[in-house]
Amino acid sequence: MTETTIDAFNQANQAHLFQFFDSLSKQEQQQFLDQLTNIEDPVKLVRTVQNAISFSQNNSCSRSFTQLPREQCASTLDTPSDQKSHWYNLGLEAISKNEVGVILMAGGQGTRLGSSDPKGCFNVHLPSSKSMFQIQAEKILKIQRLAKDKYPGSKAVVPWYIMTSKPTRRSTEDFFESHDYFGLHKDQITFFNQGTLPCFDLTGSKILMEGQDRICESPDGNGGLYKALALNGIIDDFEKKGIKHLHMYCVDNALVKVADPVFLGFAIDKELQLATKVVRKRDACESVGLIVLDEQSLKPCVIEYSEISSELANQLDPEDPNKLFLRAANIVNHYYSVDLLKKQIPNWTSSQQYLPFHIAKKKIPSLNDEGKLEKPVEVNGVKLEQFIFDVFPSIELNKFGCLEVDRTSEFSPLKNADGAKNDTPKTCKSHYLSLCTKWVKENGGIVEDGALVEVSGLTSYNGEGLEFVRGKSFKNGDII
Ligand code: UD1
Repeated sequence: MTETTIDAFNQANQAHLFQFFDSLSKQEQQQFLDQLTNIEDPVKLVRTVQNAISFSQNNSCSRSFTQLPREQCASTLDTPSDQKSHWYNLGLEAISKNEVGVILMAGGQGTRLGSSDPKGCFNVHLPSSKSMFQIQAEKILKIQRLAKDKYPGSKAVVPWYIMTSKPTRRSTEDFFESHDYFGLHKDQITFFNQGTLPCFDLTGSKILMEGQDRICESPDGNGGLYKALALNGIIDDFEKKGIKHLHMYCVDNALVKVADPVFLGFAIDKELQLATKVVRKRDACESVGLIVLDEQSLKPCVIEYSEISSELANQLDPEDPNKLFLRAANIVNHYYSVDLLKKQIPNWTSSQQYLPFHIAKKKIPSLNDEGKLEKPVEVNGVKLEQFIFDVFPSIELNKFGCLEVDRTSEFSPLKNADGAKNDTPKTCKSHYLSLCTKWVKENGGIVEDGALVEVSGLTSYNGEGLEFVRGKSFKNGDII
């Protein structure tokens, strides 16, 4: 076993990993080998990393992209209301039958936000001081209630699967526990960890070492979700619970409609395997991925904001030069049929055809030739990430759907610290309260000019059930 592992890494030209091996204790040697055996095929890994690095250096991308065909798209902005009600009813019915699960990706650290706490714990200073996790938990509680009310006798429970990473796991679980799971049942929440990938030097030829008995690793990106679902028995859990439909979303959207029945119903109605929600891209510079069609393969895919050329980002629509040509912004709200995941996860996670690695050049503390840990002053290595949407091209186009939604009711991401122009705690708070205030005014509530009120997620999921505010006056900061 020892020899086989060492041989496999030697064959991948990683002999430097064992420079200090003989001086380690038996226990340290074993721990080191245990860490290394998580890498199934080192030769393949190194080759894939080197290809990814050369791909990232070679900007002349030969692929060409266009908009998704209209047949695969719909927009809640111009869909007739009876069609939207039909989708809503289909989605709510699935929820009432306990066929819906929700996956939250919460493994990222708020580096850009300047916080080391998990982003879900963040308080954007709503009048109620609710955290992102609480806002999302209350959406689940409310949608369960709406399903029970519409289908009396049903016992809607929406299981919530929360993917964390090593750096976010403990504090996330502690946060939920100390808030009594925000009123949800403890056993309807499952925490599970994403995996890690080794860090390499800038050429991709050497795995970096963190200690004489450890390699450097970093979380494997949100694309690590698929492997984590399989390794943690989550797919089996879907089957056990009879879950057929999944809403997957990311933690940092203050307006996310968790388990949105309209989105679920859109996918169920069209018998889609995978669907995604988009908003209109704000401007050519917005840091959002774009949902597009690869013109060669005729498969759906995403061009990430960090990898798009400025020329393509700025290209205008020949049919309407007031709009960007590629403008379907990914808000990381995806629908998956459980059948799709059961069938495809073995392919998406096979070491024979890794999902692509995306490269982030970083300053990574690592061992020097004398075996001492050095903190570099310059960028010295790469961290690897897989992206959740890189599985989109494996879906047949007619099984993939894209639903455009209204940004002001569905997307306000928390990415940057206050002071930045966009996507800050301040903008999240303002968008959240503006939406609530709009609901109250639409229902005949009287809100003084310039004032903003908060509607609790337990009171209303999406502006419904607010008839009681008619004729009542509200002042700035009120909570309904
Ligand atoms: C992401 C999308 C981008 C989209 C934008 C919208 C990806 C790869 N990119 O970009 O196309 O337009 O959001 O806001 O999806 N996460 C993990 N583990 C990780 C890394 C991230 O769980 O290792 C989670 C984060 O907790 C978060 C989500 O993935 O919930 C998005 O991560 P983040 O790195 O903030 O993505 P963006 O770069 O903003």
